[in-house]
Amino acid sequence: MNKPIDARLLQTAEAFADYLKNAAARIDVAAEAKAHGDGARVGISRPHESAQLHVAGEATYIDDIPELAGTLHCALGLSPVANGRLTGMNLDAIRAIPGVVAVLSASDIPGTNDCGSIIHDDPILCQGDIRHLGQPVFAVIAETRDIARRAAAKAKSVLTIDAEPPVLTPRQAHEKGQYVLPPMHLERTTNEGGAKAAIAKAPHRLKGSFDVGGQEQFYLEGQISYAIPKEAGAMHVYCSTQHPSEMQHMVAHALHLHANEVHVECRRMGGGFGGKESQSGLFACVAAIAANHVKRPVKLRLDRDDDFMITGRRHCFWYEYEVGYDDEGHILGAEITMVSRAGHSADLSGPVMTRAMCHFDNAYWLPDVSMHGYSGKTNTQSNTAFRGFGGPQGAIAIENIMDTVARKLGRDPLDVRRTNFYGKTERNVTPYEQVVSDNIIDKLVTQLEDSSDYRARRAAVEAFNATSPVLKRGIALAPLKFGISFNVKHFNQAGALVHVYTDGSILVNHGGTEMGQGLNTKVAQVVAHELGVSFESVRATATDTTKVANTSATAASTGADLNGKAAQDAARQIRERLAACAAARHGGEASAVRFANDKVEVNGRTIDFATLVGEAYIDRVQLWSDGFYATPGLSWDREKMKGNPFYYFAYGAAVSEVVIDTLTGEWKLLRADILHDAGRSLNPAVDIGQVEGAFIQGMGWLTTEELVWHPQSGKLTTHAPSTYKIPTANDCPPVFNVQLFEGDNFQDSIHRSKAVGEPPLLLPFSVFYAIRDAVSAVANHKNDPPLRAPATSEAILDAITAVQSAA
Ligand code: MTE
Ligand code: HPA
Ligand code: MOS
Repeated sequence: MNKPIDARLLQTAEAFADYLKNAAARIDVAAEAKAHGDGARVGISRPHESAQLHVAGEATYIDDIPELAGTLHCALGLSPVANGRLTGMNLDAIRAIPGVVAVLSASDIPGTNDCGSIIHDDPILCQGDIRHLGQPVFAVIAETRDIARRAAAKAKSVLTIDAEPPVLTPRQAHEKGQYVLPPMHLERTTNEGGAKAAIAKAPHRLKGSFDVGGQEQFYLEGQISYAIPKEAGAMHVYCSTQHPSEMQHMVAHALHLHANEVHVECRRMGGGFGGKESQSGLFACVAAIAANHVKRPVKLRLDRDDDFMITGRRHCFWYEYEVGYDDEGHILGAEITMVSRAGHSADLSGPVMTRAMCHFDNAYWLPDVSMHGYSGKTNTQSNTAFRGFGGPQGAIAIENIMDTVARKLGRDPLDVRRTNFYGKTERNVTPYEQVVSDNIIDKLVTQLEDSSDYRARRAAVEAFNATSPVLKRGIALAPLKFGISFNVKHFNQAGALVHVYTDGSILVNHGGTEMGQGLNTKVAQVVAHELGVSFESVRATATDTTKVANTSATAASTGADLNGKAAQDAARQIRERLAACAAARHGGEASAVRFANDKVEVNGRTIDFATLVGEAYIDRVQLWSDGFYATPGLSWDREKMKGNPFYYFAYGAAVSEVVIDTLTGEWKLLRADILHDAGRSLNPAVDIGQVEGAFIQGMGWLTTEELVWHPQSGKLTTHAPSTYKIPTANDCPPVFNVQLFEGDNFQDSIHRSKAVGEPPLLLPFSVFYAIRDAVSAVANHKNDPPLRAPATSEAILDAITAVQSAA
């Protein structure tokens, strides 16, 4: 295996450019491609297709597109109140500001005032009900962005609102029975009395509650749309979005147009992380409504604070649970209520809760289980997709239970976790009745336990703590299992277009979007592999609703699985036509024609790929093709919450070791060891990048990233990096051993790879439980620390105090 890119060594753009130049030489292509054969283009650690452009600052994001003459700028006027009724707006005062061209409110929307993705309960501009502090009420269109922003900032003085006290927390919403969608229930039982009876019969019982915070996506490129009116009322929108087709639909509804009159395009995002799956919609709609109104191009680029105040993020969760277990720690019965903070509208809260409930089992066999999911309606931003999509929130609940059970029994938490692992041929059915038929968790964890030296380090940690009164160390191993597929069946489809030009160069376009995750790199690798050409011959272009229609969001980690297969399908059709042409011209069987290393072998002769393409053109062979893929074998009964929602599972595990300062609550991650399952990786360097990124991002969620809404006003007070602390490169542990688990996907996924975008977000559970371990060392592991997430220094000190006072 080649060494992954170490960003810490590549401090300047020049150094990085040099690195990239040398990368091809340093990569042992032959060794890497062994699994796929000579001339393979998949399974190779090639750099991200835009890496050089990224570091040179030459990659085009929406705000880099040269502006057309006459472009105007838009900014949103936001509600200064969290709950109430809008009774008046003096927008003329804003219209009078020099440089302001127009000010629009809900009544200026020609079509439907809605940007809800599933349930249509999401106004683009306030329709009278004030739902959260920061809700867009009006849009200012001005000659410059600065004028638009200054004018929009006058919202407070021009809006009249009858204010009511806001409902802010999931607990408050639950007490009021206030939800954005009906409660969900998922039960599985192996005995007459269900989970309750199993708990009652168990030798030990544990009852508790737990809080996990939300998380801001903090994509580097904020939400942005640039709308350009076209002839006859049509609209072209450049939008930073994971879901161009949905943007097309939303804009069409808002403008009362047909889908074929709206064109949405996105070359790349500067990060999405789920935050641009549905919530790019409001900005696409406002830009398009504004452009339509003034018949000039309009750009809407959010300031970071406004992005925080308007858009939703990861749902915070509050859990109440009761479990029954035996002397070894087997969970015999579990009942759990999960309440999320959905915010003011449904958005994706339904599928997020479904995924949370389908991940409560994580890697564990839970014979009798009863789950109840409530999506609390609150006067806060509408929460949405964020890497893991509820999966992390579901799984951390059972991990918390495992950790506590272990402490109650005085066992190593790893042993209790392992005791509960799914089995290979029995104890292998999830609560939603999908059989876990690809289970590698025990093998993977055993391998990591050895390679990380877990047992010896556990002993060393105890030895350290015995003589260290102030600094305490902690260590934890956390396993993960993550279901791959959209949990809405029909989203699991994709299309692609591959064009081979007469010079042999190739263009691929597919329904997926590039957000830094390397999807275009992987899809181009698949196409190059299929046609036996060099990677450099293939170029991926912007995602574009006029090229591939009716696409799904690039989400649920399925980008490469779906679009890779669709692009392979397109490329295979072209290859077959080329092979037939080669055999017709040069003799031999079409099925014997071989494509590799930019050459074609036909009937004992070797010709250049480009030469054959030229011949095929003369012979009037179609040199482009579409491709399509739909994931097989999926089923889901929404009422019963049963079925086979996932094509397969991805697995992984991490060991983290931390040190905490018991006087200040400060902590440091000393070392992390990760073993993650990406199947037969399409690109190990890209996948390791995804694993490292997800680990650090998830660590931020569980430690430093804290969201605080003012309890009276409902204002999000943590709306910028000054008050909201995301991890930086400095927070990477000094020892960071990241490896991919060797093994094929048992399903016929694209080249037997596995999705890798979201699952590793669960790996930093190990950091949280290592901190918990260190806190519990304060009282010699006698008391279970009531540590909430995020484990900020304050939360750590609170937990230490609680552990000490219980001792
Ligand atoms: N990696 C980068 N660099 N930027 C991102 O925005 N989003 C994550 C993950 N990795 C993201 C990322 C999320 S939430 C998902 S669902 C997947 O990438 C989506 O891309 P994929 O399906 O192609 O893996
Ligand atoms: N992940 C992301 N987005 C989704 C999903 C999912 O599982 N289901 C519906 N939208
Ligand atoms: Mo990812 S949360 O499915 O966009």
